[in-house]
Amino acid sequence: MARILHEQTPTQQWWNHAVIYQIYPRSFASRHGQIGDLPGIIDHLGYLADLGIDAVWLSPFYLSPQKDAGYDVADYYRVDPMFGTNDDAIALINAVHEHGLRIIVDMVPNHTSDQHVWFQAALADPNSPQRQYYWFRDGKPDNHQPPNDWGSIFGSRAWTRVCDRADAPGSPWENDTQWYLHLFDSSQPDLNWDSPEVRAEFCNILRYWLDLGVDGFRVDVAHGLCKDPELPDWQFHWDMVSGGSKVPGDVPPPPQWNRPEVHEIYREWRAVLDEYGPDRALVAEAWVDNLDDMAKFVRADEMSQAFNFDFLCSPFTVNAYRTSIRESLRAMDNVGAPTTWVLSNHDVVRVVSRMGLVETGKGPNGIRPTDPQPDAQLGMQRGLAAHLLQAGLPGSCYIYQGEELALPEHTGLSDDIRQDPAYFRTRGVEAGRDGCRIPMPWNSQLPGFGFSPSGETWLPQPEEWRDLAVDVQLSRSDSTLALFRRLFAARAELRMAQAQLCEVEEDSPWLHYISRHDTRDDVHILTVFDTPTPLPTGAEIIISSRALDEPTAPGESYTVPCNCTVWFTLSS
Ligand code: GLC
Repeated sequence: MARILHEQTPTQQWWNHAVIYQIYPRSFASRHGQIGDLPGIIDHLGYLADLGIDAVWLSPFYLSPQKDAGYDVADYYRVDPMFGTNDDAIALINAVHEHGLRIIVDMVPNHTSDQHVWFQAALADPNSPQRQYYWFRDGKPDNHQPPNDWGSIFGSRAWTRVCDRADAPGSPWENDTQWYLHLFDSSQPDLNWDSPEVRAEFCNILRYWLDLGVDGFRVDVAHGLCKDPELPDWQFHWDMVSGGSKVPGDVPPPPQWNRPEVHEIYREWRAVLDEYGPDRALVAEAWVDNLDDMAKFVRADEMSQAFNFDFLCSPFTVNAYRTSIRESLRAMDNVGAPTTWVLSNHDVVRVVSRMGLVETGKGPNGIRPTDPQPDAQLGMQRGLAAHLLQAGLPGSCYIYQGEELALPEHTGLSDDIRQDPAYFRTRGVEAGRDGCRIPMPWNSQLPGFGFSPSGETWLPQPEEWRDLAVDVQLSRSDSTLALFRRLFAARAELRMAQAQLCEVEEDSPWLHYISRHDTRDDVHILTVFDTPTPLPTGAEIIISSRALDEPTAPGESYTVPCNCTVWFTLSS
């Protein structure tokens, strides 16, 4: 018996059904130097429109010392000269719209850069109003120990003593013995969201970008803004990628993550966005413990979407996927929000590599040449199967630049060129995220694969990427890029994102769903894991993530091989 997991929905706001493509600006395309820039993005909007996406999300391009690749913002109102100018941003926003797409920009409210004027003022004068914008505290009794035991997500402790900063000697703060909190790098001091001034400042920042025409914001570390004001010890530690997921049940709730007070902030932000009409989106990056907690971020008066990290972190097994899909739809339907589906971003090992590891799931924080290497073929099969599955499910789906080319993680980077603060703060225990941030290959014939005019790239590209470059894939009908174009075209045409979803056979070794919409015939989505499975007779294939096994006798049907998703209809 088929069980209904989700009801057909009318076409709602654009984000309910959208395919959203993440652009990591420094690695997308450059018109000028070795780092990608905003004009470089404008040059490739035609490519994105042809891919069949609905919106782009840009990682931060604001003024920043780039200690955490732009997630350390020194001025929220200014484009970093490295990426271009504010005029380039305006041109980009307009060009995105001219291509019929929407644009979401990143907002980083948990922390600023230590170079931000607020933090500089806070350092320069302990009595300045800006001191209250952050978390400055005296240390433990003798002041030689930090105020509490919290760890930084990037490794080591979450507190730095002002006088211990590298810029302290000879500065006005050289004798300042207070500590400041940073859940990430010491160059990313946490903002104090109890401060009404901080709240007001961010409403103005949102309005600035809304006035320029952005369609919404992806909210960085959305679960981190509020802290228990007592700042109690916690004893436990979360790392970058696992975030809150899978913290053992007996661990007390973290005093610095997923506090209920954060939701007030997003209600206030929702009201700001609504000043611009109902079609502006807020997307939560919230690494929280379970899907019901995630759903709280997308209640009607808060955000529009939250990244489904439960799905991203699920190992490639029938049980994990079945549970994640059921639970995701249940939790989001409970609050009337769309489910999102996401497999990669700039913080995790690229999906086709992650899925080629012995243990699939959230994966390690980076892969080094000396680590066990992914099985490329297996990873590719599973990664594409997962993509065809997620694109068939109701809701919105995300794709990280290069996934459409099946780019693997760069596992050959040498340690001396790594840039991720997680690598430095863990003293090299974690390789970090550089391997998923390699500049895109546009043209196999040009230096740097056409990433920049001179061929320079801020991180080296693997030589094997020549065969994966856009020009090569555009010329082949059997390329991954061609597959993604067909996939997104079929997803839109068949209204997969708006459809009812039924689960067939609740404990089979494969996943079988029926996507039902009253404008067309049923579409079946079948994902096969470890047991090759024949298609039913009369199946007409719409798309499959790899070649199916041919029938061996007349009247027999095709067989779906392991690690494969196929969409098909059944002739009645
Ligand atoms: C988010 C970003 C990540 C960044 C961190 C700190 O998790 O996705 O790249 O390092 O926040 O801002």
